[in-house]
Amino acid sequence: MIIKNRLRRMRSNEFSRSLVRETSIAADDLILPLFLVDGSKQQHSVDSMPGVFRLSQDLLLKKIEDAQNLNINAIVLFPVIEKNLKSEFANEAFNENGLVQKTVRAIKKEFPDMGVITDVALDPYTTHGQDGLIDKKGYVLNDETVDVLVQQALSHVESGADIVAPSDMMDGRVGAIREALENTKHVNTKILSYTAKYASAFYGPFRDAVGSKENLGNSSKETYQMDPSNSNEALHEAELDISEGADILMVKPAGLYLDIIYRIKNQFKKPTFAYQVSGEYSMLKAAAINNWLDEKKIMTESLIAIKRAGADAILTYFALEAAEWIKSRD
Ligand code: PBG
Repeated sequence: MIIKNRLRRMRSNEFSRSLVRETSIAADDLILPLFLVDGSKQQHSVDSMPGVFRLSQDLLLKKIEDAQNLNINAIVLFPVIEKNLKSEFANEAFNENGLVQKTVRAIKKEFPDMGVITDVALDPYTTHGQDGLIDKKGYVLNDETVDVLVQQALSHVESGADIVAPSDMMDGRVGAIREALENTKHVNTKILSYTAKYASAFYGPFRDAVGSKENLGNSSKETYQMDPSNSNEALHEAELDISEGADILMVKPAGLYLDIIYRIKNQFKKPTFAYQVSGEYSMLKAAAINNWLDEKKIMTESLIAIKRAGADAILTYFALEAAEWIKSRD
């Protein structure tokens, strides 16, 4: 049999497979999410996220040192706010001496080159667990929320945050934050917009980690986060975020939304990130712990798939493990 085009030829050796490999992951494509608690020497495990901890500032700084040694260049902070600091109007969100604000200052002092990303949303700070302020019926108010988000974002930036990441899905918040940043001469502060953030059940373990699950109760976030059935709407969101001054567009979750990553990257050609969320991590981790799947392989395959779809960088709870693996391979 004569077959001129044998695709198995290039697959027959590791050297030739690696020469033609189209997608690869480097540690500097990864962003490490970190859960932060007040106090010192605190390290609490999160039951639904094996291997992930809530850390107090002292231990968090050590973790950041590990990340830096593994060539991870950016982290994102998620605070666990004590019950007595939560309120209906989320005032703690923009306290200049709040947990996020003081920790950002400490991180930038010790690791000036580490990219520090902060989450702009009110859910850690509200007694009702919603990402914004609510009216009497529990509806999340858009414009009133945006005013608070702007104050929150400015307080992060004044503490030294390099990138603010609004994860709330209010309309017009990117534009409002951009205007406030321009007015205060923070012209190089970047906005990483959660452009297409879906109302996903895969955020469950995250809500355990930050302790917003009980606050949220049976309420949902469907009046502001996107419907998982929609795809064109994500492009509309992206168009608006770009026009409002976003520097980076993000899709969340990642692995089940590869089509959205692909379409956004393909259409706009802008920096596009993806968030492999808590539930994605927990599913893979649980299967690995049970020895049903090979952890290193599924972790790598899941990250490669997200990059292949078009993501420039990935937020992932696997960041440290993946970076260790990348280093051991080099
Ligand atoms: C809240 C926020 C959430 C996540 C990041 N920021 C949860 C939510 O919208 O309820 C989820 C991240 C994850 O699941 O890993 N603004």
